[in-house]
Amino acid sequence: MNKLLTKTFTILIAFMLSGFFIAPAQDIPDDYLSGEFHKGRREALRAQMPENSVAVFFSNPIRNRSNDVDFIYHQDPNLYYLTGYKEPHSVLLVFKESQTNESGQNYNEIFFVQERNPMAEMWNGKRMGTEGVKGRLKIDNAFNGSEFASYNIDFSKFDKVMFYDFQHDVRDTRSDADLYSLIEQFKEKSGYNANANSLSAERPVNNLDVRGLDVIMNNLRGIKTAEELDLLRKAVLISAVGQREVMKAMRPGLSETEIQGIHEFVFKKYGSEYEGYPSIVGAGHNGCILHYIDNNKPEINSEEMILMDLGAEYHGYTADVTRTIPVDGKFSPEEKAIYDLVYKAQEEAIQMCKPGTTFSEISAVARQIINKGLVDLGIISDETDRHLYYPHGLSHHIGLDVHDKGNYGAMEENMVITVEPGIYIPEGSDCDEKWWNIAVRIEDDVLITKDGFELLSAFAPRTTEEIEKLMLEPSPLDAFVLPNLGGDK
Ligand code: GLY
Ligand code: MN
Ligand code: MN
Repeated sequence: MNKLLTKTFTILIAFMLSGFFIAPAQDIPDDYLSGEFHKGRREALRAQMPENSVAVFFSNPIRNRSNDVDFIYHQDPNLYYLTGYKEPHSVLLVFKESQTNESGQNYNEIFFVQERNPMAEMWNGKRMGTEGVKGRLKIDNAFNGSEFASYNIDFSKFDKVMFYDFQHDVRDTRSDADLYSLIEQFKEKSGYNANANSLSAERPVNNLDVRGLDVIMNNLRGIKTAEELDLLRKAVLISAVGQREVMKAMRPGLSETEIQGIHEFVFKKYGSEYEGYPSIVGAGHNGCILHYIDNNKPEINSEEMILMDLGAEYHGYTADVTRTIPVDGKFSPEEKAIYDLVYKAQEEAIQMCKPGTTFSEISAVARQIINKGLVDLGIISDETDRHLYYPHGLSHHIGLDVHDKGNYGAMEENMVITVEPGIYIPEGSDCDEKWWNIAVRIEDDVLITKDGFELLSAFAPRTTEEIEKLMLEPSPLDAFVLPNLGGDK
């Protein structure tokens, strides 16, 4: 008996030591943007709004994929930025000045959200409801969407009612609290319908402003706060690790699809929920298609390079990193010539990044280097030749969107931008055939600091020497062998 008790006691202690009785594991990550962040962003918005104005933000619509399956829901980034709310069918009103309701209470924002519904939640997951919004998101003035219709708001008393104009592509689910109804109710209340749905025409209601909000949101979202930088750093670092692991795992015979899978597996391994945009993995001539997302070449071959433009999205914030590497681990002389030219353009542009430098200055320098290099290589005959070998821009902000909101004049501290020159020479181009099907883009993510820059994606090798060296290293995936399903592979 004593022996049994001792044994039971020992097992109990072992369980406790193993963590079994320690606090339950947390259900969700604990590093989302905080309620204070979102509150602070609403304050910052309010500070930039004109006198006697209200700003109105709607959630994104749900998009149907097919039959009864929808695409994964993605919140409108502005609404997410201001609230942290990730559910559909909602509308936020932010007032410049404090308002007083019929009971004499003051408020300066109202949030109408999705109502709790046990049956819907059984199928599709928990809803926050008004209580969750008050408790977790710290937005006190929260109501169910169904209350918007009868909520007494006199939009005509404001000098400006600011909102993003409607795309007219929202599905009517025949509920009085769906996004379609919220928009229709807003149009009715604000007099939008009186404009015959055309705000560009001469309008009878002239306090409706569909342009001003974007100017303010560009100002706000273009400069990242400390909390945003933590998430962006993480997204970029995860994406850089993805590039490194693929460099090690690369070999002829892999498919574009499985290379995409390796990147995205690394993203998930680090808790990145999504890709910030459809992954681009193009071998050989596929690299010349700028937004190639088919990624379905079954076997890449040793003579090709592969262009990989992928960004992990971590808690809403997305990286945007491109590496182009030789499938067999060794750049040919032509590949290296083009690669080094793109690298030179990128490096010069990155070194210029600091507060005060303009986007157009770095873009002009990169373009000039590429044009001169193309002449030196005999690919074009004159630096002023019009050509399509570098057909895209050099830089954009990243954040909640891959092409994020922000201003594109002079750089400022805490902007996060890409620098991404490229050269693409499709088959049939008017140059020596030896250059055909070479496509190189190098894309890095750069934080503008007080007096310079920090290269957030530096962990992913960038020079040809560094890339060739890393590609010699073994990959943990070499040991990941799955059953043959029959057929050739
Ligand atoms: N991945 C899209 C871009 O580089 O802008
Ligand atoms: Mn980009
Ligand atoms: Mn990209």
